[in-house]
Amino acid sequence: MTVVFREMRPAEAEAVVAMIRALAVHVDAPVVPRITAKSLIANRHLDDRCTVSEGSFFDGVPAGGDTYLLSHIIHDWDEASCLNILGHVRRALPAGGRLLVVEMVIPPGDEFHPGKLTDMVMLAFTPGGRERTADEYSTLFAKAGLKLTRVVPTPSPVAVVEAVLA
Ligand SMILES: C[S@@+](CC[C@H](N)C(=O)[O-])C[C@H]1O[C@@H](n2cnc3c(N)ncnc32)[C@H](O)[C@@H]1O
Repeated sequence: MTVVFREMRPAEAEAVVAMIRALAVHVDAPVVPRITAKSLIANRHLDDRCTVSEGSFFDGVPAGGDTYLLSHIIHDWDEASCLNILGHVRRALPAGGRLLVVEMVIPPGDEFHPGKLTDMVMLAFTPGGRERTADEYSTLFAKAGLKLTRVVPTPSPVAVVEAVLA
């Protein structure tokens, strides 16, 4: 499993740590692995099965994973940048592998959802970032050669969007 994350909220960190049952590689921009990821992993005694890797997901992702997890990554970037990241994941994915994207997934309709607020935050503070509906994730994944297979809700406002090779 490849995990790309930074300072997680406690419930999300616990969820991700619970998923690190096999060998994992955590990737982030250089300063983050040095400060946050390594201490999080060490505090939970996962050093023997989780490697911290420094690098940019715009240049590539580590090869050899069976599952790639992008937590609150895709919503930060414009479509071209997302397709760059997702393209690296697609090329790294083996047959039968999975991509898991953890994000706010905007539900259809006009009811309140926290993702509608973070969508405004993305609009104001990121270079083209946004929250997406399930249909929009499906369309984005298709452009990257991936196929959305399911959207799994969680007790928190985020969902896990699963994709496989198209
Ligand atoms: C919105 S935060 C997400 C934090 C965390 N993954 C979470 O789920 O709460 C975006 C993360 O992407 C990392 N990041 C930004 N640019 C990157 C790059 N080019 N390559 C790898 N990581 C990057 C940041 O350091 C930060 O940890």
